[in-house]
This record gives sequence, C-alpha cells and structure tokens, in this order.
Amino acid sequence: MLLSCFAAALVFGQLSFPFAFDPSDFKTCPQVGFCRRGRALAKRATESSQWVSPYSVRPESVVLSPPNASLSAQVFSSLYPGIRFELQVDVLEHGIARVRLDEVNGMRRRYHQAASWALVAEPTLMAPGVVWRFEESGIRALYDDVELEISYAPLTVKLIRAGREELVLNGRGLLHLEHFRTKTAAPSTALSEYQAVLHGNTESNGWFEGGEADGYWEETFKAWTDSKPKGPESFFIDIDFPHHSHVYGIPQHATSLSLRETTGGNQYFSEPFRLYNNDIGGYDADSPMSLYGSIPLMHGHSTESTVGVFNLVASETWVDIFHPVLNKSTATHWISESGIMDIFLLPGPTPDLVFTQYASLTGTAPLPAYFALGYHQSRWNYISSQDVRDVSRRFDAENMPMDVVWLDIQYSQGQKYFIWDNQSFPDPVEMADELAAAGRKVVAIIDPHLKTSNDYPIFSEAQDKGFLVKDAEGEIFVGQCWPGSSAWLDFFNPQCQNWWRGIFSLNSTADGWRWAESTDNTFIWNDMNEPSVFNGPELTMPKDSVHYGGWEHRDVHNIYGMLFHKATASALVHRTGTMKRPFVLSRSFYAGSQRFGAIWTGDNLGTWEHMAAGIRMILSDGIAGMTFSGSDVGGFFGNPDPEMLVRWYQVGAFSPFFRAHAHIDTKRREPYLSAEPYRSMLRDILKLRYSLLPVWYNAFREASVSGIPVLRPQYVVFPKDSHGFEIDDQFYIGGSGLLVKPVTLPHVESAEVYLADDQVYYDYFDHQVHQGAMGGRYVTVSAPLAKVPLLYRGGSIVPTRLRPRLSSSLMKKDPFTLTVALDKTGSTASGELYLDDGETYTFEQGELVWRKFIAYPSKDGQASLIVQNHNLASHTSARDIVGGAKFQFYDGKNAYAREIDSVYVEQIIILGLKEEPKRDLEIDYRGGSYGMNNVLSSSLTIKNLGVRVVDDWQILVQW
Ligand SMILES: *[C@@H]1O[C@H](CO)[C@@H](O)[C@H](O)[C@H]1NC(C)=O
Ligand SMILES: *[C@@H]1O[C@H](CO)[C@@H](O)[C@H](O)[C@H]1NC(C)=O
Ligand SMILES: *[C@@H]1O[C@H](CO)[C@@H](O)[C@H](O)[C@H]1NC(C)=O
Ligand SMILES: *[C@@H]1O[C@H](CO)[C@@H](O)[C@H](O)[C@H]1NC(C)=O
Repeated sequence: MLLSCFAAALVFGQLSFPFAFDPSDFKTCPQVGFCRRGRALAKRATESSQWVSPYSVRPESVVLSPPNASLSAQVFSSLYPGIRFELQVDVLEHGIARVRLDEVNGMRRRYHQAASWALVAEPTLMAPGVVWRFEESGIRALYDDVELEISYAPLTVKLIRAGREELVLNGRGLLHLEHFRTKTAAPSTALSEYQAVLHGNTESNGWFEGGEADGYWEETFKAWTDSKPKGPESFFIDIDFPHHSHVYGIPQHATSLSLRETTGGNQYFSEPFRLYNNDIGGYDADSPMSLYGSIPLMHGHSTESTVGVFNLVASETWVDIFHPVLNKSTATHWISESGIMDIFLLPGPTPDLVFTQYASLTGTAPLPAYFALGYHQSRWNYISSQDVRDVSRRFDAENMPMDVVWLDIQYSQGQKYFIWDNQSFPDPVEMADELAAAGRKVVAIIDPHLKTSNDYPIFSEAQDKGFLVKDAEGEIFVGQCWPGSSAWLDFFNPQCQNWWRGIFSLNSTADGWRWAESTDNTFIWNDMNEPSVFNGPELTMPKDSVHYGGWEHRDVHNIYGMLFHKATASALVHRTGTMKRPFVLSRSFYAGSQRFGAIWTGDNLGTWEHMAAGIRMILSDGIAGMTFSGSDVGGFFGNPDPEMLVRWYQVGAFSPFFRAHAHIDTKRREPYLSAEPYRSMLRDILKLRYSLLPVWYNAFREASVSGIPVLRPQYVVFPKDSHGFEIDDQFYIGGSGLLVKPVTLPHVESAEVYLADDQVYYDYFDHQVHQGAMGGRYVTVSAPLAKVPLLYRGGSIVPTRLRPRLSSSLMKKDPFTLTVALDKTGSTASGELYLDDGETYTFEQGELVWRKFIAYPSKDGQASLIVQNHNLASHTSARDIVGGAKFQFYDGKNAYAREIDSVYVEQIIILGLKEEPKRDLEIDYRGGSYGMNNVLSSSLTIKNLGVRVVDDWQILVQW
C-alpha cells in the first residue's frame, strides 16, 4: 500500500516532486505578462521627468452620502476617454479609509467579491460622519487626528497626520486598471510617440501602457497555455510611505521580517515579492518567492508612527519595494493580475492599533481549543492503528506530554479521504476512543482533491451536485494529485459548504454520505489547498479554470484554500449537538484565514537555516493576523542530528502551533527515540511547553480580542526603539513579559539577547539578572543545549503549572505557580490569568475566569509588598474579555468558576526583592502554612499558601 502510493506520487507528479524544489517550475516576473507590464510602466515613469497619472476625478461628480462618511465620484483616464471608472471612498470605524475604484458599464465586471470572503462583515461607516472640506484641487476628510486628502487631477489619495504624509496612493502615477477590451481593438500606439503625448496628444496611450499588447490574450509557461479569454485586466498601484523607514507583512515569504528592497539603490532581491499560493516543497530559506499563503497586508513603521495598508486583491500579485531615502521612506508598487481596487488605509498610529484596525475588518483568531496549544506528534505516516497506539504508549512510558497524533494521507484507501484503509486501520473509532481516554486527540488529513472514481461516494456526490471546479471548456477540471486522477471541490458554491458540513455530522439523520467512522475527538488537517495540482502550471490549477459564479481561477486563486479551511472548521463546530471549538490546520491561507484555524510554514528542510527562517515566517504571519502558526519541528525533509533536533524542539515549544512532522523518507524521530542525554532534554522541553500553557492561552485570549499577535516582534513591543526594527530572531509571548530568543545555530553555549529598555530581566531558569538600557543593549544569556534563552521582563507576573502531565486535559485542575518578576524598583509587577473549559463556546456566555495579579509596595512599610489577586472580568466589558463575547453581566460564580473552585495557587516566587526578606512573613489571607526557599539572593518562594485562583485575596510580604 505504502509503496504503491509512493510510486503514484512519482508517476503523476513532476518527477522531482516532492523531493526537491526546482526554481524553474515557478514563474519569475519576466515570465508573467502583467508583471512585465507593471514593472515596465514603473520604469517609464521613473525615466520621465514629466510623468503624470492619466487618472483624474470629475469634480462635478463628487457626491457625499449619509451619514457623511462616504464619497463617490466619477474618474476617467485621459488614455481612454470613453471608459468610465467610479471611485468610492468610505471612512470606517477606527478611522480606516476604504478606497475603491472599479470600471463601470464595461464589457465585463472585474472580480469584486474578495471582500465578501475576507471581511468578517460589511464594514461600519464612521458615525456620526466626518467633516469634508471642498477645495479647488480636491476634497479633504477630517476625522480623529488625521485627514484624508483626495486630489482630483491627477487622482491621488493621501492619509495625513499632523501635516505629515503617512500613506500616499498614486503619488508616483502608477495607478492603472486595464479596462476590458476586444481582441480586435486597435493596438496601443508605439513608444516613439511618448514625448508627443506628454505634450498633449491624448490620442496615443503608448507612453503609458507600452507599445505592444504584451501577453494580453494568451500566455504560455513551459508546457501550459493560459487561454486568457478576458484579455488584459491588470491592476497596478503605487502605495508609498514617505515617512516610514521599514515595512513588514505580506506573508508568506521565507525572508527577513523587515522587508528588503526588490528594486532601487539597495536592491537585495531582483524579483518582486510574490503573492500567489503555491506548493513549493523545500523552498529557499531567503527568497521573495510566493509560498503557500498570501495576505496583502503591509505595515509601514517608523519611530513616529505605524500605519497599515490592506490591498484586498485575490489574484496573483507582485510587490516591489524600495527606499527613496534610506532609513526614512519606503515606496511600494503592487502589480495584480485582476480584480477591482479595494484598498484600506489603516491609520495606526501604533502597531497595536494597526492590529486592531485590521482585525476590525478581517476578524481575529478565535480562542483555540486548549489541547491545540499542546504538542502535536505527526509524521508521514503512522501506518496503522497499532502504530498510533504504540506512539501514544511510548510517550506515556517516557513520561513525555503529547496531545495529538496525526495521520497523513496513508490512513486512507488510495487517498480517498475519509475512507479508512481497513487493512491498516481496521478500528479507527476504537483507536480514537482509546486516545481520548488518555486525554489525546487524532488529527486526520482531508485534502480538497477527490479521486475521480465512481466508487468514491464523496466524488460521486460532488459530481452529481455540481460542486466541482470546471475547466476552461466547461467540463470538470481533472488533474493529478495524490490519488492520481482528481477533481477539486469548489467551495465558492455556498451549497458545497453546506454539503461538506453534512459529511462531518456525527448525527445519523444527516442526508447523503457521512463520515461515520469518526469521533468528536478527531480533528482535521487540510493540506494541498493552494490548490496543489501535480500536473498543473506551477503545480497549481490553470488560471482559466472556472468556479461557481463563473469567475475564473485567476480572480480567486489566493482565496481558494481559505474557503476549504472555513468549510471544514464550520463542519467540525456543528458536527454534534453541542458546538465545540474546531481544530483545522491549513497549509494555504488568505486574509481572514485566522478565523478558521492554524497554519504552518509548509514543507521546510531539516537545516539550521530553515529553523531560523521558520521563526521569521511565524512573526510575519502574525503581522497579517495569522497568529496561530508554526513550522515543522525537525524539518519536513531530512534527518536532523540530535543537537539540531533539540534546538528545533525549543523553537517549536515557543511557536503558537507546536508540531513535529517529517517526510515519509525520513528516519523515525519521535522524541522518545533519541538517545540520552537528548531524550531527557526533549522531555524537559515538552514539559516546559506544558507548564507555560496558561501563558499561551492568555496570549490567545488577548489576540482574540485585539488582533495583536501571540508572538510579538521587537518593533511591535518597542515601536520607538529603532535599533529593534530589524530584529527578527527574538520575540515576546503575548503580553506576558516573557522574552525568547531560540538558538538556531550549532555548537552554541550562549546567546546575545537584545534588551530595549531600562528594565531588569530575569533568566527563566536560573533567575540570573540582566539589566537592559534605554536605547538598547545586548546581554549574554547562557544557552547550553538543554537551555533556551528565556527571560522574564521585570514588572511581570507569570502564571505557570509546574506539574506537567501526559496531556493538557489532565492538567485542568492542577494548581498554579505565580512568578512575580519585580520591576527595577523592586516593588511592582502585574499579570493575568484567563481560563475557561477550553473546549466549548460557553465562554461567550461568561463561563470563564479572568484574574489580575498585581504586586505593589504597601503604603505604610518600606520593606513590604502586597501581592493581590482580583477579578478582572467584573471590571471590564464582555467584549474586552474574549472575542465573540455575548454576555452582558459577568457572574464571578459562573458554572466554570465553580468547577475550578478547588484550584489553588500553590506557590508564589518573587524575583528582584531589593532586600532579603526576614523569615517571618505576614500573610493576611487565612494564615496557611508557608515555607521559604531562597534559591538565589533575589528570589523568595512562598509555598502552601492555600489561596484559590477564583477568590480575591492579597498577601502582605513584610521584612
Ligand atoms: C456633512 O458634511 C458637510 C460638509 O462637510 C457638512 O456641511 C454637514 O454639516 C455634514 N453633515 C453632518 C450630518 O454631519
Ligand atoms: C540605516 O539603517 C541601517 C540599519 O538600521 C544602519 O546600519 C545604517 O547605518 C543606516 N544608514 C543611514 C544612512 O542612516
Ligand atoms: C475493506 O475495504 C474494501 C475496499 O473498500 C472492502 O471491499 C472490504 O469489504 C473492506 N473490509 C472490511 C472488513 O470492511
Ligand atoms: C444532532 O443530534 C442532536 C441530538 O440528537 C441534536 O440536538 C442536534 O441538533 C443535531 N445536530 C445536528 C447538526 O443535526
């Protein structure tokens, strides 16, 4: 079985797949007609001193509509006076400006539905509206601390704050929406007329569009021909940040977090950054090539402000970046194949506000099921239900925590997903139930390609119902993937999404085929959803394939994977009578995918370089909302040596999504297989992850409300410290105050960690003190192989559970330890703890516990400190507690709080007391017994306090 599937991959795939990546399988900008045209237009603009955008607004057409937050106007291009465009500008809640431009009454409609998939809802206009100021040259909207300036001729849109241009659209005149035309239309006039045109000859458009119809009607790449029935319809726009030295975002790319130049004087890459979801196994660790997901969101950042731009386009897009003035300004040029212009300007002015503004549009990552934050053990493949049971037992035997065993494609019969290979998996329900009894879950892979076999009920039903993507001729599109000949589900059809839910339903009453051999402890992995098509151009679907609604694949390519993820997540939520939080891992993603689950960085290599690249990629994913992200621990390809494996587990343990996974050709490398001393190191790392689960859950709670990522890079936490703007190898976990710098090099005994502020930091493990400095300084933190550089920032109180068990669900009633890392004054700190059942949605009704811990000096005594636990939930609005909150009044005695009322804070560790406390401590709670243990001179441990998590209390420490 194993061998035959393996052989199938070789036969049906391009021969190299998936063992090595061949760059020539993927296009470069010069191989793409619209990218050539976009770059050529920019070049002509740069070379001309008289360049002026042909697009302008008819002032007499400007209309404001109630409630005074919307403007519409007619726009025309001097190139084509007969073609009409409409501009729509909306000022939205949070001060976001939405700028849309579309061709009206054209031969066809441009694709305009990306917003309906990406946005969480129709955006709300700013109430009660804004003040518009009409001027001769344009119109200006004034609101909050910014103004939006729309100039008529040429059309430009600027976001201005305190007289400073923060964002400029079409400032360099590169805006172009190629209108629909017929193939017989007169070709553009030649470039030789270029100068004449600039002096008034508007008959000719060659100066702007170029002299030839370059790739307008048909394009070939290797053996593939794209029929391009709609002709040219590209959309180009320059988006500049005149006062921002750094830009971040537009994942997914394996490169630095701070995006480097693709053109201009300090060009680092010669190709633009590309956004076109592709299956590139074993990708380059430093490249602007597109990868599995695409999110067209970018941050512009400087010490003065942060702003964001969200260019809501779903077709293939290339982004050029350069700095007109190094360390001062950034210019970008976005080149897209199709779609309307629909751009959101996010005013910031802080990184946190930009996150919240973006989340108001596309949603946040919801609270995951608690188990999903545990450790996931995967490999291609666990080959039988016996194998799965063995893996689980060996984790137990080695006292290693683990929450989930994963099943790759070989669980299914001939890659007919849902259909168990009954030779190897004769008892899948019993297998899942046994894992569930140990507090563990199963994740099984379900891909969007269906074997075109009439004995496969999923395919037959999808075919009968018309739920499959069509080819350019209107037949079902058939390509090659894991099962051989395959067809692809079309989730753009809402009926297909409903039908998909039925398949997962665990109710026997559902119509149609159901996945009966499943359980509510079985979760899903959606892979190959770029979509990956082994015999397609660039290993994906031909662009002239057709989706529901008649839209070509070219228009929706980057959305496809998200809709599969969405349908599966929704199916899991509703599969039983009680709504449960889903867990679905997707490889492909788009803006808004954060609402549906986790992603990972795809098929990486087991190299040090890829280990480091994974960290940068996770940080970049988080910038664009996709915060539940991780990379394959150990590397998908290759056999890491023991040292690399230990370091990679440290990277994984500090990723939001923590999964080990490996290619079928690799040697088995489950952590229990390592020899000592590595095995113990791996066990300790797993235990460390589990003891910090409260910290991760806190961070996810906050992300679910604010959109601020779980892993926060340096510029996000210290936006005014320019020395941190290019740091992308260390990060902070939520608002916990924990700072991590995983080691990603061999033979290292210490790490240089950057501390941005005049604050004291404490080593997590040995409590050694490191002093930061205003303006930043590097400190040396010891990092022998068993130790990951992990620091508490002074001023933090961090809750942990120090009795790691074999799975996260077994820890639900375990006591907490609070580590009070006092700030540099030696007297204050704060932190929080969020808890709920980790499984259902009852938290939306207020069944949760949210506590605030603070430490502060008591008023009377000098040598004293109060540590206090109070209810944070009762002081806050429901909306601020959790994303999706629906309750009005918080009841501190809710069912969940009662369920955990026996959970204690078993010890408090205080770091950084200025003087050693006397042995006699005063505890003004109920006088429980205590012990004292001065590990280092600055640390005081108070045990056996007998205080409960759900109660308000305070402890007076006096000396
Ligand atoms: C709408 O804007 C116009 C122009 O700024 C202003 O005169 C008018 O009072 C505004 N109306 C409301 C309801 O704010
Ligand atoms: C620009 O910034 C880089 C890195 O942040 C620094 O090395 C360089 O000296 C700066 N250059 C100028 C001209 O300020
Ligand atoms: C196993 O699957 C095959 C192929 O679908 C089927 O013919 C056979 O009846 C199944 N065996 C059992 C024991 O269910
Ligand atoms: C499943 O069945 C339960 C009880 O039989 C019922 O309450 C629930 O609504 C059903 N759910 C679905 C999705 O049909």
